[in-house]
Amino acid sequence: MEEQIQTSPEWGADFFGTLNQMPPEPIGLLIHVLEAMGSEPAFRAARREMLRALELTPGARILEAGCGTGVALPDLVEIAGPSVRVYGVDPTEAFLEAARQRAQGLGVAHAEYRPGDIRGIPYPDHFFDAAFCEKVLLHVGPAGVALTELARVVRPGGRIGALEWQPHFALSCTRPELEARWNGLLRHAVYNYLAAPSLAYYFKKAGLQDVRTRVYVAEGERLETPPFWRAFLVDQLPLFVGAGVLPMEEAEALAAELQALDAEGCFRASLMIWTAVGRKPDARS
Ligand SMILES: C[S@@+](CC[C@H](N)C(=O)[O-])C[C@H]1O[C@@H](n2cnc3c(N)ncnc32)[C@H](O)[C@@H]1O
Repeated sequence: MEEQIQTSPEWGADFFGTLNQMPPEPIGLLIHVLEAMGSEPAFRAARREMLRALELTPGARILEAGCGTGVALPDLVEIAGPSVRVYGVDPTEAFLEAARQRAQGLGVAHAEYRPGDIRGIPYPDHFFDAAFCEKVLLHVGPAGVALTELARVVRPGGRIGALEWQPHFALSCTRPELEARWNGLLRHAVYNYLAAPSLAYYFKKAGLQDVRTRVYVAEGERLETPPFWRAFLVDQLPLFVGAGVLPMEEAEALAAELQALDAEGCFRASLMIWTAVGRKPDARS
């Protein structure tokens, strides 16, 4: 059954908000990038720490808003145990289908993935024991509306988490104009460039208590290992070319530059990831 997602004039998003209109090829490429990103060690360490801080008990109901293809699911089940009840909402149909297949493949007893918007979550107040989002506030907002919604659907005393990254690559590059072009493009392509370092502010404004943030650094010395660096910095360049925000010659020059540095053993890249966890006040506090 198709669900109607309500919208509001103050809501905004970057290209991640319009994926249902895209043909299968770029969607397949995005799935490849999300998969590589999800398994990158620093992203994974950040996610696992954030999930642990949600203090999930056996049988807990947990919501992932903007769940995408469900890359968090294996960590979630490992940390919360097999009795966890996982709920995911996301507007992108192809991603939801991939998430359902992942849950089936992993044999997760209770996993429900349905269409939904983080700014208007299709569940009643206090329904979940905890909720989180990963790499969503960078793309969709306002963050204050999203966090207020996450707080609404979590029970009093329940925890809320978020993981975001700052889309700036500290990159080895002998051609500064290419590095500037790449990082400048990312800064303008995303909806909220400052989502990651602003998490504490958004959490506090949403009325959450005991807010803790942490920073992680992803670093690479090989383009292929882990596969995230090649997937993000080279494989997905055609998406930017196709969207008309990066000329083909510059995409080719950037890919050639990174591959040449890698061949000499001199490729280096790093970026920052932030997590935040806060608690919804108890009914009496
Ligand atoms: C960068 S992806 C992250 C997906 C997943 N959390 C992960 O870590 O792989 C951003 C996700 O936000 C989803 N999205 C876009 N607009 C949204 C909205 N209004 N509410 C919730 N999710 C949204 C996209 O469909 C996509 O799955």
